[in-house]
Formats: sequence, C-alpha cells, structure tokens
Amino acid sequence: MLRTIAISSVLLPGLVAAQVAGAQSGQTSPPSYPSPWMEGGNGWDDAYAKAQAFVSQLSLLEKVNLTTGVGWEGEQCVGNTGSIPRLNFRGFCMQDSPLGVRFADLVSAFPAGINTAATWSRTLFNARGNAMGSEHRGKGVDVQLGPVSGPLGRVPEGGRNWEGFSPDPVLTGIAMAETIKGIQGAGVIACAKHYILNEQEHFRDKSSTSEASSSNMDDTTMHETYLWPFADAVKAGVGSVMCSYNQINNSYGCQNSYTLNHILKNELDFQGFVMSDWAAQHAGVASALAGLDMTMPGDQGFDSNTSYWGGNLTASILNGTIPQWRLDDMAVRIMSAYFKVGRDSARIPVNFDSWTTNTTGYLHALDPTRDVQVVNQHVNVQDDHAKLIRQIGQRSTVLLKNTNGALPLHMPASVAVIGEDAHSNPGGPNNCSDRGCDIGTLAMGWGSGTVNFPYLVAPVDALRAQAATDNSRFANYSNNYDLKSAQMTAANASVAIVFVNSDSGEGYITVDGNAGDRNNLTLWGNGDALVAAVASSNKNTIVVMHTVGPVIVEAMKNNPNVSAILWAGLPGQESGNAITDILYGKANPAAKSVFTWGKDRADWGVDVLYTANGSPPQIDFTEGNFIDYRHFDQAGIAPSYEFGFGLSYTNFSYSNLQIQKQNAAAYVPTTGQTKAAPTFGTIDTSVADNSYPPGFDGVKFYIYPYLDSTTPVNNGTKTPVPPNSQSSSPQPKLPAGGAPGGNSGLYDVLYTVTAKITNTGKVDGIEVPQMYISLGGPNDPKIVLRGFDDLSIKAGQSATFKADIQRRDISNWDTVSQNWVISSYPKTVYVGSSSRNLQLKAVLNGNNYNGGYGGNGNNGGNYGNGGYGNNNNNNNYYNNNNNNNNGGWENHGGEGNNGGHDGNNGQSGDGGHW
Ligand SMILES: *[C@@H]1O[C@H](CO)[C@@H](O)[C@H](O)[C@H]1NC(C)=O
Ligand SMILES: *[C@@H]1O[C@H](CO)[C@@H](O)[C@H](O)[C@H]1NC(C)=O
Ligand SMILES: *[C@@H]1O[C@H](CO)[C@@H](O)[C@H](O)[C@H]1NC(C)=O
Ligand SMILES: *[C@@H]1O[C@H](CO)[C@@H](O)[C@H](O)[C@H]1NC(C)=O
Ligand SMILES: *[C@@H]1O[C@H](CO)[C@@H](O)[C@H](O)[C@H]1NC(C)=O
Ligand SMILES: *[C@@H]1O[C@H](CO)[C@@H](O)[C@H](O)[C@H]1NC(C)=O
Ligand SMILES: *[C@@H]1O[C@H](CO)[C@@H](O)[C@H](O)[C@H]1NC(C)=O
Repeated sequence: MLRTIAISSVLLPGLVAAQVAGAQSGQTSPPSYPSPWMEGGNGWDDAYAKAQAFVSQLSLLEKVNLTTGVGWEGEQCVGNTGSIPRLNFRGFCMQDSPLGVRFADLVSAFPAGINTAATWSRTLFNARGNAMGSEHRGKGVDVQLGPVSGPLGRVPEGGRNWEGFSPDPVLTGIAMAETIKGIQGAGVIACAKHYILNEQEHFRDKSSTSEASSSNMDDTTMHETYLWPFADAVKAGVGSVMCSYNQINNSYGCQNSYTLNHILKNELDFQGFVMSDWAAQHAGVASALAGLDMTMPGDQGFDSNTSYWGGNLTASILNGTIPQWRLDDMAVRIMSAYFKVGRDSARIPVNFDSWTTNTTGYLHALDPTRDVQVVNQHVNVQDDHAKLIRQIGQRSTVLLKNTNGALPLHMPASVAVIGEDAHSNPGGPNNCSDRGCDIGTLAMGWGSGTVNFPYLVAPVDALRAQAATDNSRFANYSNNYDLKSAQMTAANASVAIVFVNSDSGEGYITVDGNAGDRNNLTLWGNGDALVAAVASSNKNTIVVMHTVGPVIVEAMKNNPNVSAILWAGLPGQESGNAITDILYGKANPAAKSVFTWGKDRADWGVDVLYTANGSPPQIDFTEGNFIDYRHFDQAGIAPSYEFGFGLSYTNFSYSNLQIQKQNAAAYVPTTGQTKAAPTFGTIDTSVADNSYPPGFDGVKFYIYPYLDSTTPVNNGTKTPVPPNSQSSSPQPKLPAGGAPGGNSGLYDVLYTVTAKITNTGKVDGIEVPQMYISLGGPNDPKIVLRGFDDLSIKAGQSATFKADIQRRDISNWDTVSQNWVISSYPKTVYVGSSSRNLQLKAVLNGNNYNGGYGGNGNNGGNYGNGGYGNNNNNNNYYNNNNNNNNGGWENHGGEGNNGGHDGNNGQSGDGGHW
C-alpha cells in the first residue's frame, strides 16, 4: 500500500524530537510573561461583568484581602480569605475534600474518585459531584477542594492516586468535567487539583533542609497525557485550579510561569483563579507575576504569622513591583468564579468548624482571647445521598474472576466471612485522624482527601443480615494472622468470602511504614497468606479486595479454589450494602478496571522515587506517554487483568461497527491579540491609609493586608522582575489557545462511531463498551482510550453504542508548531469490552480527517524575550528556590529567543494521502 511512503514523507519533526529529548534532570521551564489577564467569553461574560463591577469599588487592601488567606486555623474552614466588612462580604471558605465535606458532622462519605471512575458512568460522575456540591453548599463552603487529576496515576504506588480517577487521561478528563459540572451546578466553586505532575508523595514538599522534587517533563507528554484532563476541567468551566507542591522542570508549581501563565491561562484560556496548595507558595512577587491568584492558607508556614502576600502584596503594589492590573486580575478572577456558579444567591453563613466538634468554641481557633460562640450548628446535609453512594458502590465493583457461576450467591446453606477487612474498626470508623491507619474495613484512603464517616456499613454486618434472610448458617472471623482459625471457620461453609485490603494516602501521615506512597503492591496485613490459607480449606473461596489501586493477584487468579475475585475499591459509607448487592446478584456487576493489574511491580516500568537522587530530587518522566496500559502494550507485558476489564453475570456480543464522517470545519489556529490589561478602580497610594489602623486589635496568628513596619514600601531602588512581566500591552494569543480547554476546533466532532451491543445472557445487565484509537505513529501508544458509555441492556436485547471522535482525539501535540496536528499515519478505531478485548475494528479513512492543521501559527512573542536573569540574590520573591543560582527559569534563555518557530510548516493539513 501507499502507506509506508506517506508515513516517511510526513514524519513530524516535533514528535520525533520530543521522544529524543524526553525528560531530563535539571531541565528548566521557559519563562512566560506577562500573566494573562481575564477577558471573559465562553460562558464567563456575565460573571466577568459582575466581578468587574464588584472589584471596581474595592480599595487596595480589600483586593489584597480577597487574594490572601488569613492563616492556618484562622477561621472555620481549612482555607479562608480576608473579608470586606465595608460591603458586608465575608471571606471565602475553602474546604476539603474531593469525596465530601472534611472535618464536619452530618455529612456523607462518598466513594473515592477511583471508584467513581470505575462506574464509567457520566451520569454517576455528575450526580456524585452534584451531591457533594450540595453538601458543601449546605455547610456554607464557597470552594470544594476537588476533583483531582494530579496525581493522574503514573506510578501505581502513588499515595494519592485513589483521590483521582484513573491513569488514563481521557477517562479522568471526562470524570473531571462531569464532577465539576455537578459541583458547580450546586452553586459551589470546584477546584481542579493538583496542577501539575504531583505524582508521588515522597519529596513533594519543600522542607527546611531540601527543596521539593522536580517532575521533569517533555512538551509532548505534557499535552497528550498529564494536561489533558486539566484541559477538560477548564473546558467544563472550573472556577479554580490548585497549583501543586512539587517543582515542574525545577520551578515550583505555584510560581512556574510556563505552567501557569503560558499553558493554563494562555493556551487553555483558564478564566478562573489559581490558588496555592497549602503552603506551596515560596515567593511573593515571583508567584504573583507567574500567575498565582490566591495564597492558601495565607501564611508562609502554618501559623508562621508572616505572609508572602497580605501586607507584602500591598507593599509590592505600592512600590511598583507588581502592577495594579495583576492584582485587579487576581480579584476579578476570584469574583468571577464566585458569580459564575451563583454564589451570590447560594451563599449561606459557614455553619461548621474544622477545628472542633464542640458546638461552642473559639471563632478563631488559635486565639482564645475572643469570640467564643456557636461554631458548629450541626446542619444535616446528607439528604438521601446514601442511595447514590450505595449505587456507586455497586457500579464500581469490578468482577475480575468468576468460575463456574460461583457468583451470584443464591441462598447458600452456609456462609463464612473472613478477614479483618470485613469488620469494623473497633474504635469506630473515624478512630484514626484523617483515616491514618488500616484497621478494620477500608472504605477510603488517608490524608486530607477524606471526611468523617457518618457511619460505615461493614461487610460482615450486611452479609450477616443477608444470611439471616436466607436462613444461611453464618460464621465470621477477623484475625488475619491466626490462619488456623480462619481455615477452621471456612472449612465447612458453602462459600468462604475473604476480605483483604491495601491502603495509601497523603505523605504527612505514615501508616505501617508507608509514607503516603505504598512500599509494595502486595496486600496488607498478611492478606495474601490469608487468602491462600482459606482457599486451601474451602474450594469455593471468594476474594473481595478493598484496595487503593492494583495489587499483585496472580496467585489468587491461578488458584483453582479461588472461585471469584472482586475489586471493591474504596466505596465509602455504604460499603457492606454495596458488596452484598453484588455478591447476591441484586445488582449485576458492570464496572471495568480503571488501571492495569500487573504481575510484578517491575511490569509498570516506573516507580516512586523513594530515595533522593540529588537536591532537589529529580523525577524524570522519561517513559513519556507510556504509563499503565500504554506501557504494558508497548513492552508486550501480559497483565493479570488489563485496563478496562470487568465481568458481568451476563454476556455481551459486539457487532456492526459503523463510522460516520461529520461535517466539521477546518481547524483554524488561533491568531490575534488580547486587549490591553484592564484595571478596575484607582488605588489610594497613601502609606498611612494602607497601614494598620490606629489601635488595631488583631486576631492572633492572623494574616492581614496592611503594611507593617517590617514591610518595605519603597527603599529607593527597583526590584528586578522578569522581562515583560509588568507589561499591560496586548499580547499574542497562542495557535492552540483561544477558548477554555484550548482552541475550540480541537473539540469539533470529526466522526461518530456506532456499534451494536447485544446482551446474549439470561439476566439484564450494563455493559461499558470502550472505543480505542491507534494513532499509528512510531511514538504513539498501541491504542489510546477515546470514548466509552454505560449501556443498560435487557437480557436478549441490543443497544447502540455511540461515541464521537473529536479532533483532539486523533491529533498529536507538535512541539515545533506548538499546536495539535493530525498525522498522516493510518488510524484505526477499535470498540471492545476492554483494552485487550477489542471485538470490532475499522481503519479511519484518512481522506476524511478534515482539514488538519492550517499552519500559520502565531506563537511568537509570548514566550518572553529570553532569559530572566540571575536575580537570585534576594530572598524568596521571584526565585523558585534559594539555592538555584545556576538554574531555574530565571536564568534560562528559554524559547524566547526563537519566539517564532511558528507554523509556516502546515504539514498535516492533508491528513490522508494513503
Ligand atoms: C520542561 O522542559 C523541557 C525541556 O526544556 C521543555 O521542552 C518543556 O516544554 C518544559 N515543560 C514545562 C512544563 O515547563
Ligand atoms: C481584611 O480581612 C480581615 C479578616 O476578615 C478583616 O478583619 C479586615 O477588616 C479586612 N480589611 C479590610 C481593609 O477590609
Ligand atoms: C513579608 O515577607 C518577608 C520575607 O518573607 C517576611 O519576613 C515578612 O514577615 C513579610 N511581611 C508580612 C507582613 O507578612
Ligand atoms: C516592594 O515590596 C516587596 C514586598 O514587600 C518587596 O519584596 C520588594 O523588595 C519591594 N521593592 C522595593 C523596591 O521596595
Ligand atoms: C471541647 O469541649 C471540651 C469540654 O468542654 C473541652 O475540654 C475541649 O477543650 C473543647 N475542645 C475544643 C477544641 O475546643
Ligand atoms: C507490604 O506492605 C504492607 C503494608 O505495610 C505490609 O503489611 C506487607 O507485609 C508488605 N508486603 C511485603 C511482602 O513485605
Ligand atoms: C532595597 O530592597 C531590595 C530588595 O529587598 C534590596 O535588594 C536592595 O538592596 C535594597 N536597597 C536599598 C538601597 O536598601
């Protein structure tokens, strides 16, 4: 065929170069200034107009108050900004977590992100987001700190992977978008976090002795894998993004001008505000100029009583280091998010307190000299969310193995339930603070991404109740280490159900020697030995796993006495009920694994960096796009169970794949310029007016916006800043930018794929057909997920699976034109029931690629004009760290010099020569 010729003649230099350059220790991000100012558009216009009107009436101090947290534990939420008493406007309340309302009572404990993903249901993604949003709203929260797509899940041991969705960026992106729409639809601002490349817990933080690790990343992988779900979040209208603790290319996540200014605010056209992770800000001026809009919790270190912003931000405006337009942009972005989700009508007073469960307490937890009042009104916000939680629990349980119809159970004569993980924590489900232990049944990981359980249904209790209904004899045993007793309990039962787990969490808590990230991929608490022992005494052993991600299951998979294996993940408060529904066939399993189950940890090809390899530690993402199944496919490694795999109690057949070309317009790179930076209102430059009012009686440990004697206002010199960082002139737009989520043409539908799915079994069921695409290039993964749906199909009936192929779905990031291009490599569409069971296949007709890339990219001047120089000699303001005199973005000529490697090379407009 002609294909080979076409392939070699249209090799995309950028794609090859990226592979060669890869990710390298010590590499730096190019500087990008000025920070893009908000311009509205695309669903933000009303909010922007209201925000402008609001911000225009504010004083300098009031604007600063909106940007700066009052300090750790200064108010009732985990993060709180200053207020505007003059306008009776209380400060913002930011509250964890991605699975509910942290530090509160009478709230729901939702399934973790990873379970939610395993439903593959847009409806459930959205419903969970909306239910969580409504609980936050009911407690008075302005910003729910979730959802999570960083970590994405590069390494299976990563401690916080379960807070997010899946290492697949498309599944995660859709889950992000629907969750955000759900949360914001309830009148609460969502926060997409942690931006970006925060893929492990070890070394994520700057400490007194070490800088945080640097995640070193190439431009192609950044776009094709890690940025992808954030693009979906921005496209969905997310109001806030949280920058991460780690460094990216040796510049901190909250002051990296390339990731914040260039990629997030320019290319992705993000209109909301960027807030720092808690104490992830390490400089005042540098972070402001690099695009940070809000500092959390406001103090430099928890309760340090000093801030990089607050009075320092006021000073840097007055001394001309930060232009007024930048502060106004921060304030307008924050208020636009507020108006966009309707906070102006949804807002109620904060009625809970993160720092005490007592009804009465100090309004400011650290200041016992004032304001004792009712701080917990114990508002019940749970509604009927338990039903949804149980449903997601069912829908997220993956049936991995089921021999000889072992499941579903039907009135077994006797049932033995074995394992600590089936039982309650004797101290109660909230016995360990932030769930920082693994005692009893596991239903969420540990760290800030948690809530207090209102209750937790242990599997043993739900199964005992079911056994009573069925007149089944029932026995249970909870000690994982007394294998003899476990065997005796199991020996004569019709079925032995063993519960096991594996836990992980956030790095500030260490559990059983695991400092956030898991040390291994085996089961915890003697789980593997327990399964083997029980299976040796009962030929009908069923294993249920509550794990934060993959564990090594090859032995139980191959054990003939293990008749069924289920992954129940981290299902939240209704755990026992949900698993009982599945085991007894009251719900038919429909979930598919959202990660790969390798046979050995080495199979993943990447691992956590557990031991520092330098200072700062360098984490080189040299595997590029090849994480999880993309790596297993590339390396030809057979997993125990593949990504996308999951059984049902019925069977489905796939037929009749059709591809319909749609009439999309040609792709037009964005051109043109922004307007000049606007300012809102005038600033009173009087030092006296911006200082502490006479006789001011401040709250202890509280951060205020006022100038103080330690804060220089102007010492007669100019503080050096990056070139262009103060410029308010119109700026060029990026070819791949121009709309939230990037160039709107990326989301044009080029093809629609349909297939017929038939339920060939005897019971009704839900199937999740998956669409994968092979992009065909030498550096492309074998296949990438691009679409899915969850279809309810009655026994004997059929349904039509339908998935759109958007332009982005068949494009690659081209580092040279700095745009997405459709390569001429032959593209194949697959529809199947997992990533390795691709029943249907068709070649996409290249002539239909429809326009590709027009190639007059216009990305010149915005990269900054070369390096920003050598200004590391003063503390903390625009340095990414204190000891990088020979590195970091400041010193790096970056791409600025060659600002215009722009696209007179429209190489791929002609997608299909073959
Ligand atoms: C990281 O550095 C590499 C090499 O300079 C560059 O290609 C890439 O775009 C940078 N990425 C970010 C996010 O700074
Ligand atoms: C800033 O916020 C603090 C805390 O809410 C408040 O006490 C103070 O009055 C505010 N300052 C101004 C100028 O509004
Ligand atoms: C301003 O920043 C400096 C340097 O980090 C710090 O010492 C000082 O306390 C800060 N001022 C305020 C008011 O927080
Ligand atoms: C301006 O204020 C900022 C924040 O306090 C400070 O870091 C900087 O050194 C000041 N610059 C001058 C020239 O006073
Ligand atoms: C809660 O109330 C108890 C009993 O009055 C008191 O001992 C305790 O200190 C209070 N806790 C907090 C955090 O205020
Ligand atoms: C893996 O880690 C868990 C939790 O720390 C521990 O219980 C288990 O024994 C470890 N597995 C191995 C093989 O060391
Ligand atoms: C003014 O402040 C800047 C930043 O802190 C410092 O580098 C400079 O030496 C100071 N100049 C004078 C004249 O004090």
